[in-house]
Amino acid sequence: MKPIEIRPNVWWVGINDRVTDLFEGLWPIREEGISYNSYLIKDEKTALIDLSKEMLSDDYLAQLAEVFDISTLDYVIINHMEPDHSGALTRLLELAPKAQILGMPKAIAMLADFYGLTENTERLKNGQELNLGANTLRFVYTPFVHWPETMMTYLVEQKVLFPCDGYGGYGTLDGAIYDDTCADLDWYEAESLRYFTNIVAAFSKSVLAAIDKFADTQIELVAPSHGLIWRKNPGRIVELYRRWSEYYNSPAEEGITALFGTMYRNTEHALSAALEGIASEGVPVTVYDVRKTNVSYILPDLWTRRGVLVAAPTYEGQMFPAMMDVLMMADRKRVKHKQAAYLGSYAWSGGAKAAFDELAAKMGWQVVNAFDFIGRPQTLGLDRARELGVQLARAVKSAGQRSDG
Ligand SMILES: Cc1cc2nc3c(=O)[nH]c(=O)nc-3n(C[C@H](O)[C@H](O)[C@H](O)COP(=O)(O)O)c2cc1C
Ligand SMILES: [Fe+2]
Ligand SMILES: [Fe+2]
Repeated sequence: MKPIEIRPNVWWVGINDRVTDLFEGLWPIREEGISYNSYLIKDEKTALIDLSKEMLSDDYLAQLAEVFDISTLDYVIINHMEPDHSGALTRLLELAPKAQILGMPKAIAMLADFYGLTENTERLKNGQELNLGANTLRFVYTPFVHWPETMMTYLVEQKVLFPCDGYGGYGTLDGAIYDDTCADLDWYEAESLRYFTNIVAAFSKSVLAAIDKFADTQIELVAPSHGLIWRKNPGRIVELYRRWSEYYNSPAEEGITALFGTMYRNTEHALSAALEGIASEGVPVTVYDVRKTNVSYILPDLWTRRGVLVAAPTYEGQMFPAMMDVLMMADRKRVKHKQAAYLGSYAWSGGAKAAFDELAAKMGWQVVNAFDFIGRPQTLGLDRARELGVQLARAVKSAGQRSDG
């Protein structure tokens, strides 16, 4: 895509990544892709805000060359040092040797550690401003969204916020870059939630602190470094990020994420009965087979729904491995404040239930019911599973009433 002037003398000079399979080496984006949005402000002085991944440096530099003479670049603003935004820096500086690099002190230290870069750098203070001519940039330190050096840049006169990873989302920009021109806003919002739960959710407190820092600032355009630019409704993505971040400390939305894994389907039979119980209470439930669905796609429901049903057998004295992986990721991502239940099959001494109990306690999940059974569940076992579903659904409903009231 060609550069786009998003405000007078403010240019989107982003790049789509349709090459990377796993973002951060972890999160599948093979189908969805991602954009690295970079922004150029052309004034008496020129400034570039966030760059691109190293691998795409050629495309990125060609993109820049469309709008200005790179050798005249005055400033590079490093909102965030992660290499998806700073990777192109080395190549850029070969063409723009005089450019000064600005970032929070920790970002400048990282530039030395990652790229051996020590010249022409400036350590910014929180709230510091930089005048470019008609435009002024203000740098606001917003640590841990999602690294310790992260800051957001605000273009004062034009009321544009450049929050880098904050308010970002997966998904390439397919011809349109704005919330009001993209083909499917719902899809981008869902991919923003997936990005949020994968990358940012563990730092929800820091996101809320960052939102607070801009509480009195007028924002007419939110221009993140991944995903859509929010022009028609800039408040929308901020509100979504606020709502999602608040779930770190609250019971979230009514609904249940049912996670299951099985070797010989014994556990699945009990799961089916539990789902009948949940359905009889009218609580929405989504079932994920942890053997088939990457945890990246499970985290959005796990984060936003207040109920979790874990159904998995014992494997070598432990939790079924694929389920253990999902639960450990949930722990890392600080999925807390859940109403939870467990059921699973075993054959001799069990072990999965104990593993579940331990992790649930660690995450502060309220366990409504948990039981294991030998072999295939018989009539009694299925009745128990149905009842477990009913109990979990009721607990989900009443946790909501408590938090609403
Ligand atoms: C590789 C393997 C390891 C197992 N390890 C244990 C174990 O350590 N303790 C136990 O009680 N059962 C163990 N089992 C038995 C299963 O938990 C049991 O067959 C259960 O019914 C499987 O449930 P599923 O049909 O939902 O897969 C193991 C089974 C397999 C195939
Ligand atoms: Fe990042
Ligand atoms: Fe990023």
